[in-house]
Amino acid sequence: MPSPTSSGAITSVLQETRVFPPPAEFARAAHVSSLEQYQELWNRAKDDPEGFWAEQAGRLISWFKPWDRVLDWNPPFAKWFEGALVNASYNCVDRHCEGPNKNKAALIWEGEPGDRRVLRYQDLQREVARFANVLKGLGVRKGDVVALYLPMIPELVVAALACARIGAPHTVVFGGFSAEALAGRIQDCKAKVLVTADGGYRRGKVVPLKENADGAAAVCPTLQHVVVYRRTGLDVAWSHGRDHWWHELEANASAVCPPEPVDSEHPLFILYTSGSTGKPKGILHTTGGYLVGTALTTQWVFDIKDDDTYWCTADVGWVTGHSYLVYGPLALGATCVMFEGAPNWPDEGRFWKIIEDYRVTILYTAPTAIRAFMKWGEQFPRRHDLSSLRLLGSVGEPINPEAWMWYHKVIGGGRCPVVDTWWQTETGAIMISPLPGATPTVPGSATRPLPGIVPEVVTKDGTPVGVNEGGFLIVKQPWPSMLRTIYGDDDRYKAQYWSDIPGSYFTGDGARRDENGNFWIMGRVDDVLNVAGHRLSTMEVESALVSHRAVAEAAVVGKPDDLKGQAIAAFVTLESGYAASEELRKELRNHVVKEIGALARPDDIHFTDALPKTRSGKIMRRLLRDIAAGVESGGDTSTLEDLSVMVRLRRFEQKAG
Ligand code: WT7
Repeated sequence: MPSPTSSGAITSVLQETRVFPPPAEFARAAHVSSLEQYQELWNRAKDDPEGFWAEQAGRLISWFKPWDRVLDWNPPFAKWFEGALVNASYNCVDRHCEGPNKNKAALIWEGEPGDRRVLRYQDLQREVARFANVLKGLGVRKGDVVALYLPMIPELVVAALACARIGAPHTVVFGGFSAEALAGRIQDCKAKVLVTADGGYRRGKVVPLKENADGAAAVCPTLQHVVVYRRTGLDVAWSHGRDHWWHELEANASAVCPPEPVDSEHPLFILYTSGSTGKPKGILHTTGGYLVGTALTTQWVFDIKDDDTYWCTADVGWVTGHSYLVYGPLALGATCVMFEGAPNWPDEGRFWKIIEDYRVTILYTAPTAIRAFMKWGEQFPRRHDLSSLRLLGSVGEPINPEAWMWYHKVIGGGRCPVVDTWWQTETGAIMISPLPGATPTVPGSATRPLPGIVPEVVTKDGTPVGVNEGGFLIVKQPWPSMLRTIYGDDDRYKAQYWSDIPGSYFTGDGARRDENGNFWIMGRVDDVLNVAGHRLSTMEVESALVSHRAVAEAAVVGKPDDLKGQAIAAFVTLESGYAASEELRKELRNHVVKEIGALARPDDIHFTDALPKTRSGKIMRRLLRDIAAGVESGGDTSTLEDLSVMVRLRRFEQKAG
């Protein structure tokens, strides 16, 4: 592991001293309303984790049968609420239809072209039950994996909940991923059914999802059926017998489908995320614990009340969409805004218009978006009435204090608390974050661990570091929404998360804790990039590059980027017979897009005749990072096998610049 202090990510915030106590009025009405109350809850959970979690589980989730045991901890394998029977779809839909909320809006949806739909909880129940019957009709049984490759339309939520209803784990693949990336995921989890759409809208254009799905299906022998939702009217190829229109199947499906009680540890979903190798990992989440974790954090961190209109801007293709657009808020019976499009289409005021139109009270978005809004200018939000907002959230990467202040002032009018939420696909739910009625916030810091969460900053051998010293961020106790394993690969699960610091969960992040107990996340310490809040492995991009016939070797590093946090820089050596050219550079960029998706498109491609390597053949990424960022290399180069490589790389950069 490289040293977390070398990442140098947040030296600018070391001096941050502004503190924003919770507004008194906000605190008075909040679920957790003072720092003392928070501290009491945290202490209680630390001393008696099982008692604490049992209480939350009983309070927040409806169980068909109670558990025999709160936690069975056989490190690093956890079972939470063993023996209990539960259903996520029942908790997110049906139970809200039994009381006064049956006519409450569950989803307020706006499509990119401006079309609108509202699904009340009763509507959601009917749609989910029908689609669950559709899946059953296609032969999907409890335990069968269903892949969802859809645009941000209500049917994505409906399909996910329909899977949960019959105990079929879903794997959602972000619509921006390529056919190749989709195929890799379907092959890994052996999905039987794929649900997609003819296309989706993105900045006025149609993304050909069905075409990609066809490309994937051709190389996925486990796939028996493809269900296609008609969203755009785009002409699509059709494979008779395999392909089915959503609306045709649904027309014949009953709207009655009782939710299947499943074991608390029954798989709810698999979500792929990049690790430090070339192959994405299938993060497995199970039902009971995940529901408890997402419902609790939605309630405490977003302070959701019955009359809130809550908007999480994340795509359901990412974990943020899973936990904070679908499972957390719907488990609580909240009203969620869902938006299909981009923040700058048809203009840069789209988000603010949505907030004004629906009187959104809680907004949850990403630092990369906030930095783009800053760049576009205050005139866009100023044109809209944002006075309905009462709370702002941030997730995905460290938020720089300037962006935090802009968000607070320009969007929040100085009156809304900002919750900077640290968590991961693996943690399932928010781990470190202010509670908006209790925790004084500090721009740039995710502040404190939530009750039940015990993180620590340690050295390589697990020793706690001192105040304000950088180290590795670990979590010392299991928590209900933690990943259970990497799908189909328990060994990789152990090696990846539990072997660096034995007995503790290693997050892959560097952090420090200040004298007030606030955590400052310093970014990844492994070969994982964070590009616009999305995780990408350098190895994944390297594998994509070397799969091109012209490429002999590739090394990929991140470089600082004002908008995206990190941009992708690739260093490439060519096979003999190929010469560097602008055309080849373009071809390689497109090749990576084809292999992974547009989010992995390299920003820079540097052609070179050799890569800097140690004598044992390891690429010295540290040196490449410096070149990519255009800074002088400090530090040791004595382990370099061939020092002249660096000289040539530098010289080349000067020529190119
Ligand atoms: C990685 C997890 C959790 C949903 C979105 C990303 C970084 C996430 C923060 C934050 C600093 C953050 C970490 C983490 N990260 N939130 N508030 N402050 N860094 O999920 O794709 O699983 O990525 O994102 O580096 O390890 P993910």
